[in-house]
Amino acid sequence: MTELIQAALPASGSAEAPATTQAPETERTTPWWRDAVIYQVYIRSFADGDGDGLGDLHGVRSRLGYLADLGVDAVWITPFYPSPMADGGYDVADYRDVDPRFGTLGDAAALIGDAHRAGLRVIVDVVPNHTSHRHTWFEQAVRARPGGAERDRYIFRPGVGDAPPNDWESVFGGPAWTRAGDGEWYLHLFAPEQPDLNWEHPEVHAEFDDVLRFWLDLGVDGFRIDVAHGMVKAAGLPDVGHRDQVRMLAHTVLPYFDQDGVHEIHRRWRTLLDSYPGERIGVAEAWAPTPERLARYVRPDELHQAFNFHYLSAEWDARALREVVDDSLATAASVGAPTTWVLSNHDVKRHVTRYGDGEVGLRRARAAALLTLALPGSVYLYQGEELGLPEVLDLPEEVLDDPQRFREPGGGRDGCRVPIPWSAQGPGFGFSPPGSRAPWLPIPAGWGPLSVESQQADPDSTLALHRAALAIRAGHPALGDGTLRWHASPEHTLVFSREPGFWCTVNTGAEPVELTVPGRLLLASAPPAAGDGSVLLPPDSAAWWAAG
Ligand code: GLC
Repeated sequence: MTELIQAALPASGSAEAPATTQAPETERTTPWWRDAVIYQVYIRSFADGDGDGLGDLHGVRSRLGYLADLGVDAVWITPFYPSPMADGGYDVADYRDVDPRFGTLGDAAALIGDAHRAGLRVIVDVVPNHTSHRHTWFEQAVRARPGGAERDRYIFRPGVGDAPPNDWESVFGGPAWTRAGDGEWYLHLFAPEQPDLNWEHPEVHAEFDDVLRFWLDLGVDGFRIDVAHGMVKAAGLPDVGHRDQVRMLAHTVLPYFDQDGVHEIHRRWRTLLDSYPGERIGVAEAWAPTPERLARYVRPDELHQAFNFHYLSAEWDARALREVVDDSLATAASVGAPTTWVLSNHDVKRHVTRYGDGEVGLRRARAAALLTLALPGSVYLYQGEELGLPEVLDLPEEVLDDPQRFREPGGGRDGCRVPIPWSAQGPGFGFSPPGSRAPWLPIPAGWGPLSVESQQADPDSTLALHRAALAIRAGHPALGDGTLRWHASPEHTLVFSREPGFWCTVNTGAEPVELTVPGRLLLASAPPAAGDGSVLLPPDSAAWWAAG
């Protein structure tokens, strides 16, 4: 083993970095969520069971076998609740029901049961920062008079002359305030159809306790908490003092995001989750300015996981990746939480495209998959990532649906929400049953080779790579929760090992890199060329090795 470690050092042999610790050895009985691979189903675009061109719960049920074969541990399903769909379902009109377009409550219960029988856990979204404007509470609030008690569940304020109450901006662009008919303004950090709830109101707390219980009683294994950093606003709703606030989201604590008070809510929810058997979890969608502030959401008495958007935002560059991996592991470890690794979701440009698109982007995405699945912690896979789907950049204007597209040119998120191509034949690519309406967003004509059907038949496909990686990850004692050790390596490469006996090598550069092999090849995103005791790692590639 020592020989192998030294063999991987370049001639100059700089010192090894100290091991990054995540959880003390003694605590590693590994609850499922510490290293689960969780597959995100974007309900509108995964599989259409009833032929209306829109994905639904029946569709998900019919594809559970695919997910179990892929080898993931859990499925997170985006909102399927009754909704006017002003924001793809993140505008919820009734938190305890299913939108008829997606099925019925009975379908949800049946899906949870089937998933459990297939060995998959189920996580659903809860959207507590705002409701739909069609929620009964908001309809009552609008009908009430200024000062009326029904308005207190939301954030209504008088304006300043003709101007809104303060300078806050909506994440979707424009002011975060809209005027109700009688002149008062209400706050909406997202679309005007998504009024923000007032979390200083005890009824709001009680309502969400009840909503969580409703789904927990139905058998869900946890919640993805939408805008988990948003519910509490700074006292007095002070001005930000700057325009273009969306650019500040990733760096600064704003008076409407990441306020300390939100942690009280998460503590309360943790107690509620813990009162159920079976390790039900909460995962925070929190856009926090630093890894340190993000770690606060996963302190021992708060949520179990938080999406690691710092990793998602990193460039395809060895140095940048190593830095974000180290920061993420260290900050999560400081509170005893597992790290999560996320490359894509329904809100961001797919990483094949972020990494350069076309062949280069796909090569990098395949390598990133092996890097990501080798890191300590839990991994989120966004539907279609296992197929190497790129962002669709040329959707016709008339099909665009996402409200964020009005914020700035190219700001829309429809391009990562295009339905999954299940079979090789267009135009519907098996997304819906034969003879159905066209998919709600058109699937590019060239996606046949990217379809599940085509890739299933190809041992070198991106789907096959994910299946193989997930199978190895599930069976290898070094993978999942735990620690990693970096080894010195040439520029543009990453080399780390995990005990017992696992190594990962990554080349993010444009040139092949020669490396002394740490052992026997387990899996590679692109085959390394064998040399005499060494290998050539192809550009933009990653490989897994069994040491010894
Ligand atoms: C989250 C969702 C996103 C939605 C927003 C408002 O960021 O992931 O899709 O638009 O919240 O609910």
